[in-house]
Amino acid sequence: MKSFYITTAIDYVNGQPHLGHAYEKVLTDVIARFRRQMGDKVYFLTGSDEHGQKVQASARKEGIPPQQYVDKIAAQFRSLYDRLNISYDDFIRTTEARHKDGVRAILQKLFDQGEIYQAEYRGFYSTRQEQFLQEKDRLPDGSWPEIFGEVTEIVEKNYFFRLRKYQDWLIDHLRTHEDFIFPRYRHKQVLEFLKEPLNDLCISRPKERLEWGIPLPFDENYVTYVWFDALLNYYTAVADKGLWPADFNVIGKDILVPPHAVYWPIMLHASGLPPPKALLVHGWWLQSGAKMSKSTGEAVSPLALVDQFGVDAFRYFLIREMNVGQDSEFTVEQFMVRYNSELANNLGNLVNRTLNMTTRFSGGVLPAAEVVEDPERELHELWTKTRDEIVPLCEGFQFHTALERGMAFVTATNAYIEKRAPWKLGKSADPKDQSLLRTSLATMAESLRLAVALMQHVTPATTAKINEVLGYTPGNVWRDELVWGAKLNGAKVAPALVLFPRPEKPGAKLA
Ligand code: ME8
Ligand code: MG
Repeated sequence: MKSFYITTAIDYVNGQPHLGHAYEKVLTDVIARFRRQMGDKVYFLTGSDEHGQKVQASARKEGIPPQQYVDKIAAQFRSLYDRLNISYDDFIRTTEARHKDGVRAILQKLFDQGEIYQAEYRGFYSTRQEQFLQEKDRLPDGSWPEIFGEVTEIVEKNYFFRLRKYQDWLIDHLRTHEDFIFPRYRHKQVLEFLKEPLNDLCISRPKERLEWGIPLPFDENYVTYVWFDALLNYYTAVADKGLWPADFNVIGKDILVPPHAVYWPIMLHASGLPPPKALLVHGWWLQSGAKMSKSTGEAVSPLALVDQFGVDAFRYFLIREMNVGQDSEFTVEQFMVRYNSELANNLGNLVNRTLNMTTRFSGGVLPAAEVVEDPERELHELWTKTRDEIVPLCEGFQFHTALERGMAFVTATNAYIEKRAPWKLGKSADPKDQSLLRTSLATMAESLRLAVALMQHVTPATTAKINEVLGYTPGNVWRDELVWGAKLNGAKVAPALVLFPRPEKPGAKLA
């Protein structure tokens, strides 16, 4: 069994989770479930990033100790991910001893090796991004880009990690590992960044300014810079499991350069560890063209959508709508369009027809298909084509296209039902019509079973529910489930199932 270790970014717990956080965890979950279906032994890590200035400031604002504050917010993130059916194996919090000990051990090792030195720091810092800025980050008019929020100048003695020393190694690594970043075009962005000489990385904050962090093991007057602390979670969580390096670190595009593409591989390399095999970089959910964000308060609550439409409608929308790597505008209207036309009408309709007609014309028991004429042949051929496309699409993270193909197959099945019109065949006593009736019932049920098997990594609960009402227990080899066959012959179906009900007040109370 091939082992596959995948991680998400760990969220700052300085506010409520929004759609962007939920998307990343759903995307990673879809990949994890897909790999499991393909037979890999998957280990899936997620967690929360709990130190730093932003978190300290949020706790102060609420007037409670930071530990109490992060305990509360981290629990909210975690319960959202449970609600979203995120199949993580471990949830790491950077305030846990296992993480803090791991970070301190690596810091000490790097210090002993001479990779860390003390010097005076003078520069600009963005608290919103918890990031040190450089002159080249300024806009042409001298101001700082919106995404950095408030920027402050800092002059103080600090510890530095020798980043520049490894610049050539990193460039070489990128050149020799073309699959290091998905999508490929982001590779160039990193190489572009590396054209300028790197500054060594300031990895400490004096305790007078920031208390809420991991104390440096070699100087207790300082805490560790939050990115140096946070990045190491991917390693500290599995250090004793032999799982390093990760197959994929899944992240948003705002944290690629420099944290994940520059600091992270160099930190590992300097510590004698291999870099992750790859970074998977997704785009942003936008609202009115701007990045949805905790800091600006412009954010859609995932829970409001889940409460109103159900977990799988939410997961389906995110994966169907977003082309991995690109940005996507979120609107309630677009959510409603997909919900109504694809889930309620197209898939919901196929479910209703299959259950109703099997109940009405066959006593609720699925018959065997008896004939193969043009309508059946066309559907079989479309299925084979669809199935053969799905695995490569999913392997290439084209989950949105895979879902589109799955839905096109559902549409074709509904068209097949129109063509065969079982409701007419059911009125005829002609043996040929009766045979076609049995064939059409078997064919629509088998198509439904296949379509939901195809979407299982995106809509696991819905797939399970539909299998249940079809009286079917799937086997554990996913690829075998994708073969058109006679698995449902004789199955006893439920009389009805309302899967995607029409909301009472469409789109109310969403933000
Ligand atoms: O960056 N659309 O935490 P975070 C899509 N703690 N993804 C979005 C998004 C949006 N509108 N807004 C945020 C951090 N994200 C650090 C990570 S990892 C060692 C430390 C994504 O809470 C964002 O790109 O600001 C990131 O991958 C994740 O949510 C957490 O963002
Ligand atoms: Mg952020």
